[in-house]
Amino acid sequence: MLDTLISIGDRLKEIREAKGFHLQEVADKTAINYTSLSRIETGKRLPTKPQVQTLASFYKYSEQELIKQLISDKIIYEIQEEEIGMEAFLLAEQRIKYGRTLFDDYDNIEKYELQSRRYIGNKAKLTDWIMEVIQEETTEFGTFIDVFSGTGIVAQKAMSLYKEVVVNDFLHSNNVIYHAFFDKKDWDKSGLIEIANNYNELNADKIDENYFSKNFGGKFYEKNISKIIGYIRNDIESKRNELNHKEYSILLASLIYTIDRLANTVGHFDAYIKKTIQKRPLNFRLIQTNDFKEVKIFQEDANKLAKTLKGDIAYIDPPYNSRQYSRFYHIYENLIKWEKPELFGVALKPEPENMSKYCTVKAKDAFQKLVNDLDVKYLAVSYNNTYKSKSKSSANKIKYEELIEVLESVGEIKVFEQSHKFFNTGKTDFNDHKEFLFLTKKYN
Ligand SMILES: C[S@@+](CC[C@H](N)C(=O)[O-])C[C@H]1O[C@@H](n2cnc3c(N)ncnc32)[C@H](O)[C@@H]1O
Repeated sequence: MLDTLISIGDRLKEIREAKGFHLQEVADKTAINYTSLSRIETGKRLPTKPQVQTLASFYKYSEQELIKQLISDKIIYEIQEEEIGMEAFLLAEQRIKYGRTLFDDYDNIEKYELQSRRYIGNKAKLTDWIMEVIQEETTEFGTFIDVFSGTGIVAQKAMSLYKEVVVNDFLHSNNVIYHAFFDKKDWDKSGLIEIANNYNELNADKIDENYFSKNFGGKFYEKNISKIIGYIRNDIESKRNELNHKEYSILLASLIYTIDRLANTVGHFDAYIKKTIQKRPLNFRLIQTNDFKEVKIFQEDANKLAKTLKGDIAYIDPPYNSRQYSRFYHIYENLIKWEKPELFGVALKPEPENMSKYCTVKAKDAFQKLVNDLDVKYLAVSYNNTYKSKSKSSANKIKYEELIEVLESVGEIKVFEQSHKFFNTGKTDFNDHKEFLFLTKKYN
């Protein structure tokens, strides 16, 4: 039987030892750094929720059990030093019992964090490692440019270290997400909570078929869910004039995060799963905005933008294989633009837009121009060794040796590597999957 009275740190240590892992091995494979892990296990600090999730998945241990333990540790931590701590705890218990929760207060409602979304090639698990290397190897912390921001997770991490951060991605859906999370405008929290609450009251039986449900219902989304999604999207558009740009973006980004986990896919929209779709409720939640002040947001082709910016470091994480992000995430692109275009093929994609040179034979050439043009002191380039893969679509367009050759033409380079668990659809053997970070000090 499990000893439920031990702390989260003790529990994590117990699981690790039972599985026969050394702390260093866990640090390498989860990208949570060694010191943090050691402090967590010895009870010197609490893990964060994402760290607990990462460890649960790494140890193949119940995430729910560990989160439960984490929350109870947090409660104990909060009340143990207070004389009336236990009384406060009992009062909270009573309030919850009688439904007096803090639901209409933005600080206390459950929200989506920037990393709570599925996105191919996101660096959520590697961000700490990437930023640690950058911090150790570089000296200036003025402007950080994330040239291909994707989810924005690396840029967000940079916000705690740099004076100014530039985010850029040519996808419409990513751009709206950056405005929602990072724009420094004021916004009406209670107004948006009320709108979200109304969305959660919607009844699909009372909603007419719409563009979204007609095209994607029963395919990418369950029929009723797709009616609600189309309805909400139309409603956000009808409110556009009453909302400022931040509020409009928050509602759209919240819609993407809400439906991300309801999609009948393996994580992108190149295809849907051809099985009956499980019915689940649509629980519309707002996103957790970020208060960092100096963010510049762009939606440009990376090579065009590179000619116009000046900074201390550029972080470069382009696509490296033939898979186009604008095609993978066509449903979000369509939902955000909301021009209701004609759709083609089994995956119901619109006409192509934002096709990246980095996914073609022109990749090396584009990369060379990019690093030539970027007016920065350092370049930090992410890369992984999937080019050895058997599947053609996941074969890298720029080979490791080519990347080194290009980077050496503009500066002095250092290579860092990290092993990393990689998700794939089965065709490719990624057992020796390695993640690289090339840090280049540019010649003046
Ligand atoms: C590998 S992902 C970046 C992942 C990101 N580092 C993260 O952690 O989420 C590459 C991103 O580059 C964007 N992209 C591809 N080609 C681009 C281009 N030419 N200009 C701007 N963005 C581009 C894609 O839309 C995609 O989001």
